[in-house]
Amino acid sequence: MAMMDETSGPAAGVLTRRRFIERLGLVGGTSMILAGMEALGFGIGSAHAAPPVLTGSGNGKSIVVLGAGLAGMTAAYELTKSGYKVTVLEARSFAGGRCQSARAGVTITELGGQAQTCNFDDGLYINHGPWRIPYHHRSTLHYTKTFGVPLELFVNDNDNSYVYFEKGTGPLAGKPIRKGQIAADARGNAAELLAKVVNKGGLDLPMTQEDRDLFVAYLVNEGYLSPKDLAYSGTEGRGYEIHPGAGVDPGPGKLTTPYSMTDVLHSKTWSVLTSVAGYEQQRTMFQPVGGMDRIAKAFEKQVGHLIRYSSVVQKIKQSDAGVEVAYTDSDGKPAVVKGDYCICTIPLSVLKSIDMNVSAPFKEAMNNVAYAPVGKIGLQMKRRFWEEDHAIYGGHVHTDMRDIGSMSLPSTGFQSQKGVILGYYQFGNEAAKISAKTPAERAAHAVAAGQKIFPEYAENFETAFSVAWHRVAYNLGGWAEWKEDGRRDYYPTLCKPDGRIYLAGEHLSYMTGWQAGAIESAWQQIAHLHQRVMA
Ligand code: ALA
Repeated sequence: MAMMDETSGPAAGVLTRRRFIERLGLVGGTSMILAGMEALGFGIGSAHAAPPVLTGSGNGKSIVVLGAGLAGMTAAYELTKSGYKVTVLEARSFAGGRCQSARAGVTITELGGQAQTCNFDDGLYINHGPWRIPYHHRSTLHYTKTFGVPLELFVNDNDNSYVYFEKGTGPLAGKPIRKGQIAADARGNAAELLAKVVNKGGLDLPMTQEDRDLFVAYLVNEGYLSPKDLAYSGTEGRGYEIHPGAGVDPGPGKLTTPYSMTDVLHSKTWSVLTSVAGYEQQRTMFQPVGGMDRIAKAFEKQVGHLIRYSSVVQKIKQSDAGVEVAYTDSDGKPAVVKGDYCICTIPLSVLKSIDMNVSAPFKEAMNNVAYAPVGKIGLQMKRRFWEEDHAIYGGHVHTDMRDIGSMSLPSTGFQSQKGVILGYYQFGNEAAKISAKTPAERAAHAVAAGQKIFPEYAENFETAFSVAWHRVAYNLGGWAEWKEDGRRDYYPTLCKPDGRIYLAGEHLSYMTGWQAGAIESAWQQIAHLHQRVMA
């Protein structure tokens, strides 16, 4: 992945790769930018906080964009700014692709499934597609800022939320455990063990005595150990039996009893402690106020007039003269749109079945990308018992129930009456298995699982809305899942145009399953297309 995290701010005077590229853009426009990127060995990546500068004008050239998801709308928005004539075909009656939120009135009928109509109360919703935005997805944040979509924090980690592992052993198995307590005790116990061994000189460390002493001091600090005997006996951060307050009862002094090293180890709950330690996940992320589809709506406000809705692509034909796309229009009648070039953002899971005259290697590449089965369910609860009774405000409940994955508590509407919990978030075989159930059975499955953690769950459950993305027409999967050999053998082929057809979407990025992947893939392709038009 072309990652260039320069947010820490390089020393003054240092010509970073990003600055280098920006300067090339100033002197030579798009072609210089592309040449520069080539020279540095990367494509447009997340180092780019803004769309490519399309110097010159594409006036007169017509582009047919297939799909009004974020990739398609990004392409349409940026290309029209540079004078291109753009037509967008969208199979659905609304724009946004997977960038949706389910609220009252939203309907879904999965392939071979029952129709569902969301009947959450007014103001309540679930983001059943994309739901969180990392700080380093600057392309997504570029558009939320440009279009004035207000953001709020998405609680991606919460020490006071529960971890529920039932497959481990020992006294913590099958019990909701506060994540912060597991974190404190895993760190404390590990630090105690290490500190004692190091202090006794039990490890042959390549360290001076002074460094050893400092290392032990670090472990004392890290694990909240007693400096005297290097013992771990809990932390105030993991909570008090009686919380500090006013009056004669001091509160402090009645610390909760830590879990033993053995119990923590056998519970396996420690495996969730790295959930926000990777590149993609952070403790606090963003979400648009009012639902992720606010981003789709903001794009639609800009480019909606270019979109032909309920227009389902049947055939894509290209020749030396241009591109011709046959589709059925909103009345179900055959129609055709022509253009000089096509930017096709239809997911490969769907595109591979559409008649399209591209080269054999291109077809082979399209056929060799798997799409992830993904399931989500929103459960409306009549009372925010997770806040009122458990003091959990946002964040996830991590479980080892594979047919549940994680549950999530809303990062919005704190302290209001009702709320929508994400009842499960599963992938792969488990998502496929649960998706075979009816909507009512899925809800029953999710509620039964939640009841293991929150005794108030079932009695507060009101109504559900579920989606299995692999069963949704025009998506047939949550996101593309590239394997190493696919990235090597097929991905580069699909990143290049086939004649007059350019593909874009999250599937053509190293940020699959993220809106930033869709946006930046569109940026990359329009830059290439513009370079060709200008040449
Ligand atoms: N990007 C997806 C998520 O945030 C996979 O869960």
